[in-house]
Amino acid sequence: MKLAADEERMLAGELGPGVQRAIELLIAVGEAYEAEEMIDISSSHILSPEMQFWNTGQLSRWARELVAEYVEGAETFRVPVTINPIFLEPKIAERLGYPQSYIEEMRESLAYGMKTYGKLGVIPTYTCCPFYIYPSRQGEHLGGAESVAVLFNNSVFGAMVNRESGPTALATALTGKTPLYGMHLPENRHGQAIIELKDDLDPRTFTYADYNALSYYVGKMVVDKIPIFLGLPKNMSIAQLKYLCAPLGVSAGLPMLHAVGVTPEAPTVEAALGGKKAEMTVEVGKKEINMTFEELRSASERVINYVFLGCPHVTIPEIKEIARLLQGKKINSDVIFIVGTAKPLRLLAQEMGLVDIIQDSGAMVVSGMCSAGSFLRRGVPEGFKVGVVATNAAKAAHYLQVGGVQVWFGTMQKCINAAIKGKWEAA
Ligand code: F3S
Repeated sequence: MKLAADEERMLAGELGPGVQRAIELLIAVGEAYEAEEMIDISSSHILSPEMQFWNTGQLSRWARELVAEYVEGAETFRVPVTINPIFLEPKIAERLGYPQSYIEEMRESLAYGMKTYGKLGVIPTYTCCPFYIYPSRQGEHLGGAESVAVLFNNSVFGAMVNRESGPTALATALTGKTPLYGMHLPENRHGQAIIELKDDLDPRTFTYADYNALSYYVGKMVVDKIPIFLGLPKNMSIAQLKYLCAPLGVSAGLPMLHAVGVTPEAPTVEAALGGKKAEMTVEVGKKEINMTFEELRSASERVINYVFLGCPHVTIPEIKEIARLLQGKKINSDVIFIVGTAKPLRLLAQEMGLVDIIQDSGAMVVSGMCSAGSFLRRGVPEGFKVGVVATNAAKAAHYLQVGGVQVWFGTMQKCINAAIKGKWEAA
């Protein structure tokens, strides 16, 4: 791979052993993808393994060792860097009944991460939607992990970013570089699969759960082909776009979609296809959406223990809607209800009086934490029981099902009704 002078200096260890390891890793990735050179990035979003999923046990210790090797000798990140949420807020863990020893170990891991990334100048966003705080522009090259952020940046802003792993995202932040391959090349960003809505679907009436189901179903159909959605409203909100993006990251693992009339590179279907013929067409109607709602449900027990909204983190209009639905109501005393968002949005919602309305009902509005992570059983101590969960998020429902948790999937309204009644009612 051809290296620029500053990349050669990094490789020679002139910027310290951590940056040297980081550039070595990026070179190895670049060579694997036959990249000819590195490019400068303008920002990066890190997903720190020890803070998000592996914050206890041996995995956490390995993750911390790995991070320590990469940051050794580094004084600052070389570009603006945002960060994904932590796995679980220790105070929430207490409320959920996690054992104290687990919580203590988790605190240690979180403190390590916050100190390490803080010293390097991270922008402490702690959200999977860094674009609420640090948006990007069309054509900008970014580094970073977190599938939602990658999908949103590529598909809505037209920025260029690959779906990186935790360690490679950290390497991009430490070096300000990424190998030139994949989504950084315009020719790889065209769509290959046309997605048509049947006449029995009117997207103007879609709930967030409908967008989730549409995207989840399409991901399963297209597998590795970038989908081109036709017929979606051009004035989709940020929340709707977020729910269109997120499930594709789990049902297909794709880094990008085109919504014609919304995605900057897709003013027309021809532009989205890049002058080529579509390789497949997928038709989606009511039947497919209903089937997907069913597929995202794994629960049979109607009495629920938890409700969470905010995977990905909720926007202000969503918080407003949740407050409207909860105003003057009380959630069932046996239900824990979590609304997850980003810190600046929580502060704004607090100022708007929305947090008080929601919290008066008995629900919690939390920021900086992965809304779904709290219920994942990965690394959860023996004896801790995850009960029945309700959510309107396909991404979370997918992860929870994989983790063996009983999940009800439905609209925000239905989740809130379930939280109030303590059970998921038949349609
Ligand atoms: Fe965000 Fe966690 Fe969902 S990081 S997208 S709330 S799985």
